[in-house]
Amino acid sequence: MIPTLEWTPEGVRFLDQTRLPLEESYVLATSYQQVADVIVTMVVRGAPAIGVSAAMGLALGIKDSPATTVPALNADFQTMCQTMAATRPTAVNLFWAIERMKNRFAQLASRTGATSASVRTGLIAEAQRMYDEDIEACRRMGAHGASLLPASGGVLTHCNAGALATCGYGTALGVIRSAVEQGHQLHVYADETRPFLQGARLTAWELMHDGIPTTVLCDNMAGSLMRRGRIQAVIVGADRIAANGDVANKIGTYQVAILAKEHGIPFFVAAPWSTIDLKTPTGDAIPIEQRAETEVTHHAGKQLTPHGVGIENPAFDVTPAKYVTAIITERGVLRPPYSDSLHELEAAGVASR
Ligand code: MRU
Repeated sequence: MIPTLEWTPEGVRFLDQTRLPLEESYVLATSYQQVADVIVTMVVRGAPAIGVSAAMGLALGIKDSPATTVPALNADFQTMCQTMAATRPTAVNLFWAIERMKNRFAQLASRTGATSASVRTGLIAEAQRMYDEDIEACRRMGAHGASLLPASGGVLTHCNAGALATCGYGTALGVIRSAVEQGHQLHVYADETRPFLQGARLTAWELMHDGIPTTVLCDNMAGSLMRRGRIQAVIVGADRIAANGDVANKIGTYQVAILAKEHGIPFFVAAPWSTIDLKTPTGDAIPIEQRAETEVTHHAGKQLTPHGVGIENPAFDVTPAKYVTAIITERGVLRPPYSDSLHELEAAGVASR
C-alpha cells in the first residue's frame, strides 16, 4: 500500500507529494511545528490525510513536551492545537481531528490517577487509531460505492482523492479501486487540476501503480470528452460537506459538476463522515483557502505570467447540492435531499456508537 504517512519512533514520516511522480522521497517531521509545516506546504494533502497528520502531529508534540504534570501538559497541548488549526482552513477533517484529540485528552486527564505519562500514551494510541479507522472508512466507502459506477466505460475524477489523500486506499479512488476489484472495466480520466497538478502528478501516479488504465486531461478538456460520450460517471472527493449537501472540493470541481449535469452524467462525491460538517448550514459559510500567487504565476520555478498581472488562487470551490447525484460515505450512500439524509445517517451513527 502507498505509505502516505506513518508514525515512527523518530517522528511522523511523510511521502513527499510535492516531489511526485518523478521522485519518491520522504520527509521526517520530528516536531509538531514541522508537521504543521508539512501540511501548509502540501507535502501531505487531501482532507482525510490532513486530519490524521494533524492528530499525529499533536501526538508527537505531546510525546516531546517537557511538561511533567497534566495541567502543564494541557497548556502545551492547547498551543499545539492552535498551531495545527492555523494550517489549512477548508478541510473540516483538520478541525474534526483536533477536536477528537482534545476530547480524548480531557477523557484521559479525568481518569483517577491520570499522569502526564498516561495521557501521552493514550493520545499516541488515539492518533494511531484514527489512522487505522481512516483506511477502514475508505474500504467501506469502496464497498458501498462500487456498484454506482458503470460495468464498463470512462470515469472522470478531479484532483486526487486517492490513497495519497488518505491513510490508504482513497475515497473517490477507493470507490474506483473497489469497482475494478469487482470486475468493472473502467478507464479513469484524471483532470490535471491546475495549479498544483494533483491529477496529473498524483492521481496518475497512484492509479498507474495499481495498473488501472488512466488518461490525464487538461482541465479545459472535460466538457469536450463528455460531449463525445467518453465519460459515463464523475467521482470526486470532498474537503467539507455542509448540512444541506453543498460540497467544497478542489477548485474546478464546480464546473465539472455543471458539465456532468448538462450531459446527463452522474456526479458522485465520496467522503468519510469526518468530512461532513453539520454545523455549517450551506456551502456559502465554508471558508475557502486562498493560496500563494506564485502557485499560478510559476511552474517548476519558471515564471509563466507577466510581472504584476492580477492573480486569483482560491484552492477550493463549492458545488451546490443540486448537482450531486449521491454522496458515498463509510456509513452508506446518501441521496437527495441531503438535508434529510445527512441528519438521518448522523442520528443513526450517534445511536450505534
Ligand atoms: O489542496 P488539496 O490537494 O489538499 O485538495 C485535495 C482535494 O480537494 C481532495 O479532493 C479532497 O481533499 C478529498 S481527498 C480524499
